[in-house]
Amino acid sequence: MKIAVGSDHAGYDMKKHVLNWLQSHGHAVEDMGPYSDESVDYPDYARKVGEAVAAGRFDEGILMCGTGIGISIAANKVRGVRAALVCGPQFAALARQHNNANVLCFSARFNETADVDKILESWFAAEFEGGRHQRRIDKIEPGC
Ligand code: RB5
Repeated sequence: MKIAVGSDHAGYDMKKHVLNWLQSHGHAVEDMGPYSDESVDYPDYARKVGEAVAAGRFDEGILMCGTGIGISIAANKVRGVRAALVCGPQFAALARQHNNANVLCFSARFNETADVDKILESWFAAEFEGGRHQRRIDKIEPGC
């Protein structure tokens, strides 16, 4: 899969870990920044990744900030983005199975790298179940 990855300064180190994990699992990645741990504003990176996914340039996106809250709120403002803030592997699977989330968000400060690995494994192993879930998604943003 082709995956756009972004964060803010709080997620900068975890983003490097995520990029390595993705590449070692055969994914094509683009690091959409930031490129240092200098303080930045998470909406800028949420928009960058969200717009790239919504435009179809990437299969999906992965975003992280301190809590994952700000960056997921911001990503969900982009039409066509279904960003899910997940706090564990079960949430990651359900975000895909039931919500067909196309942007995975999590906390860089309240997860260890081993927790993030489990989230990523679960996310990539899961598939959208369609059916009644598609009907519900259609009600969120008709036409997307
Ligand atoms: C940055 O300090 C922090 O506010 C940000 O990473 C995030 O947690 C916001 O939701």
